[in-house]
Amino acid sequence: MAEKKIKILIVDDIPEARERLQKLLAFESDFEVVGMASGGNEGIALAREYLPDIVLMDINMPDMDGISAASELRRSVPTAGVIMMSVQGEAEYIRRALQAGARDFLTKPPPTDELYATVRRVAEDMRSLSVLVAQSERDEKRKLEVQEDRTTHVIAVYSPQGGAGKTTIATNLAAALMREGTRVLLVDCDLQFGDVGVFLNLKPQATIVELIKSVDDLDTDLVNNVLVAHDSGLRVLTAPLRPEDAEYVPTAKVPLLIEKLRGLFDYIVVDMNSRVDEMALALFDMASRILLVLNPTLPALKNGLAAMSLMDSLEYPEEKTQLVLNRVTPDLERSKVAIAISAFEQKLRRKAFAVIPMDEKKVLFAVNRGISIVAKDRNQSPARELIAMADSLIASLAPKEEAPASSQQLQAPAKQPASRLGRLFGGG
Ligand SMILES: Nc1ncnc2c1ncn2[C@@H]1O[C@H](COP(=O)(O)OP(=O)(O)O)[C@@H](O)[C@H]1O
Ligand SMILES: [Mg+2]
Repeated sequence: MAEKKIKILIVDDIPEARERLQKLLAFESDFEVVGMASGGNEGIALAREYLPDIVLMDINMPDMDGISAASELRRSVPTAGVIMMSVQGEAEYIRRALQAGARDFLTKPPPTDELYATVRRVAEDMRSLSVLVAQSERDEKRKLEVQEDRTTHVIAVYSPQGGAGKTTIATNLAAALMREGTRVLLVDCDLQFGDVGVFLNLKPQATIVELIKSVDDLDTDLVNNVLVAHDSGLRVLTAPLRPEDAEYVPTAKVPLLIEKLRGLFDYIVVDMNSRVDEMALALFDMASRILLVLNPTLPALKNGLAAMSLMDSLEYPEEKTQLVLNRVTPDLERSKVAIAISAFEQKLRRKAFAVIPMDEKKVLFAVNRGISIVAKDRNQSPARELIAMADSLIASLAPKEEAPASSQQLQAPAKQPASRLGRLFGGG
């Protein structure tokens, strides 16, 4: 591999000293002398222009001395590692040089081996330092902060059918909602068999179990530490790692936790299981949208109808519950499927919000590599349809011209949940 050369700037007022250094450095193929200056001021100007990795800086120069120049460079060209050079090897000089931000010190004239070794070591330090700086800048950008005026939309991805593609839809929707400046959280609420972590190849240090424990006094630092960030910047709260650990998650606290995380995100996508229990009802209530994921099959139509009539009995506005048809095969039985889609739309009394084609290969490819489908070939099915679904969702949730943002209106008041479940299913 061709290593990047170490760019070096020489600053010394004595021409012979500059030339000697230049000659010595020219022997080594990984060094490149990008410029030479005869004083502090010129050195700073050249450093700004050439952005060297290393500045070999003499201390005693007539215009601006090396120590002042070094402290100016620390501010204006922080990526340059300054190596101070002086005939005086006194402790006081060395101390002042290091204080000014110099990375190392050489006595003049430096022994050749020492010169080479010092240049390489400081260049290496500067490189790892710049990696760290870039990393911390990225972390800083990703840091979650509460934003009081943020409208957070909870999107519940639900299906009465197991294996309909809830997790596939939820992970890809969350990934597709990500864009610069948008904060998205994906929560795996399939507490026993949640597999969002597997779908995205995440190794969480902590799961919903740990966050639920502190739900009563959550602070932003804890949330920042616990929520794993996918490479895309998407935050993920994974389900317990083992099914038996689900019992450590009191289901009543899950909606409370999501409520508390609201101010930190623009979208919270919730991947659910098929059960309709208290937790599911509370999540439905808090959602701006419920995506009802169905496959175009007869049993799915029957279950879909039951689920939709449940939503109706909860008195949600019509646009709150949307139909997402998944695993739709366009070829083979084109006509039959077309009928199936229209049958779904007719029975469920709404247009399909999204129709996601069946594509075993692409879906499996993505899952096996722990990436989202939408991360690859964005113009091809099914990535295209998944991205279009995210776009429609964003558009449909954007504040309307008059009537301010309606997330409030869409949330049905949580009314005595204990009795609701019984009433819904005709019990007590
Ligand atoms: N559009 C699709 N095309 C092909 N396979 C799909 C599609 N959507 C989901 N699958 C596959 O179906 C299976 C179940 O999907 P999953 O998202 O885990 O469903 P759920 O979360 O509803 O149980 C998975 O193996 C997944 O890879
Ligand atoms: Mg699932």
